[in-house]
Amino acid sequence: MDFSFNRYLISGDERPLSHAGLRCLFSSVSEAVSRVVSIDAMRWISLGQVEADDCRSMNDWLAVAPQSFAAHGMTGRMVSLTDLADRLAGPLTIGDVLDIGGYRRNWLDAPHVPHGWEAGLFYDETTRTLLCGNLFTQTGARPATTTEDIVSPAIAGEDQFRASSLAPVGGATIRRLAELGIGTLALMHGPAYAGDRRGALLDLADDFHKPVAAAVNNSPSRFKVTGLH
Ligand SMILES: [Fe+2]
Repeated sequence: MDFSFNRYLISGDERPLSHAGLRCLFSSVSEAVSRVVSIDAMRWISLGQVEADDCRSMNDWLAVAPQSFAAHGMTGRMVSLTDLADRLAGPLTIGDVLDIGGYRRNWLDAPHVPHGWEAGLFYDETTRTLLCGNLFTQTGARPATTTEDIVSPAIAGEDQFRASSLAPVGGATIRRLAELGIGTLALMHGPAYAGDRRGALLDLADDFHKPVAAAVNNSPSRFKVTGLH
């Protein structure tokens, strides 16, 4: 099965890399990054969640970029990263902005979207790029960028993997992302998308919400879910 693991290097003066990535890919990714920037000048190694394809090579990057820090939210720091990371930036809370050398990067808490309690996303305000992590995960050999439909492949991927935490907060969290004015959805497992970003996020939010609403409405609970909000 073809499956992509994308990394994004946004070229502020402080060279943030998203996300640290798998350790088995560190040598090939770092070699590719070194063709674009000087690795020892990198300052930020970011990750969206504590999962191997987000963070396993974090300490390898910190070792070759001695001025760099791993960056993540309060929950991930408290639960895991103070122990896992060799160098760690101060905790990011929702709405915190890192000035990464001419570019502004916003941390957005997104617990359980799509997986872990500590999950979050970085939004690069300057380039209007949402670093999507595992949102919109799709299989297959894909181009680097697309304006084609990314929602149907993501729904197919979810039907295949059942990877997302279909918690009550999921749909609402994704709906909030839709209002950011995003220019590019930078998928980790799929192409970067420059089509109807808001529409894609709203459709994905609906797909997260529907099984939650169905489960609640089929339960003996007195609570009922009627809307998609
Ligand atoms: Fe992933």
